Amino acid sequence: MKVAVLGAAGGIGQALALLLKTQLPAGSQLSLYDIAPVTPGVAVDLSHIPTAVEVKGFAGEDPTPALEGADVVLISAGVARKPGMDRSDLFNINAGIVRNLIEKVAATCPKALVGVITNPVNTTVAIAAEVLKKAGVYDKNRLFGVTTLDVIRSETFVAELKGLNVADVNVNVIGGHSGVTILPLLSQIEGVSFTDEEVASLTTRIQNAGTEVVEAKAGGGSATLSMGQAACRFGLSLVRGLQGEENVVECAYVDGGSEHAEFFAQPVVLGKNGVEKVLPYGEVSAFEASARDSMLDTLKGDIKLGVEFVK
Ligand code: 2OP
Repeated sequence: MKVAVLGAAGGIGQALALLLKTQLPAGSQLSLYDIAPVTPGVAVDLSHIPTAVEVKGFAGEDPTPALEGADVVLISAGVARKPGMDRSDLFNINAGIVRNLIEKVAATCPKALVGVITNPVNTTVAIAAEVLKKAGVYDKNRLFGVTTLDVIRSETFVAELKGLNVADVNVNVIGGHSGVTILPLLSQIEGVSFTDEEVASLTTRIQNAGTEVVEAKAGGGSATLSMGQAACRFGLSLVRGLQGEENVVECAYVDGGSEHAEFFAQPVVLGKNGVEKVLPYGEVSAFEASARDSMLDTLKGDIKLGVEFVK
């Protein structure tokens, strides 16, 4: 398997690259690209770690050499939030970055599975889809917005609140990856019950968890290490699916024929062609149904912004 990380010299990219170097299956190739000149050095640094994963690094304006033959492309390139900013405030810079990178993906490795981490994910995934459509290579089963950070945050916070072993907690998170569009389905967690107040406060905490990090870093950026871990989990799941493993399920923001919006995060089965099957997200509580319905205008507006940007 060849996995390319675009934005590999950034905070998320370096954490992600380190985790992939230590966790990709033996014999894999890890290809690092960033506009920053340090990128080949990041690859040399990682190459001293004794695992059977070959690492190469590429810097400069053109990601093409990093993309040649890639099976999976994970895109974290772009700028991060500062305190007081919303993910949508990143649109002006990150939209162009994602468009340019996806144009190269379309030209170089159109069959790769692409995971978009760059914010605002609700919009950048729509941009990626439009660019791939324009190039005539769009396959909705191969494009993903990475929402795994919302899942791991939910699992961590639920385990903390209820005194559970976090390894036993699984939470589906549906919708998108910003504010009210992040909807953890707490009512579905087996063997756990919450008061109405707990549901309301936990949902709000999960929705604002990115901002919690932005404020704690006080101008130094947004989540990088937890995002690196989340993206690694998702990237490894893509690889496991490509390698033919069965029952690989992750929540992801996909063009999965949702009745709610053109892109919607929900559980999907991953396989040799990316999305093998979009799973129904199941029964939801009245609180969750209302939160889902009231997020839709925001989510659809975010998607429209991406579509119009490319058009
Ligand atoms: C977050 O949720 C960076 O979007 C990322 O913290």
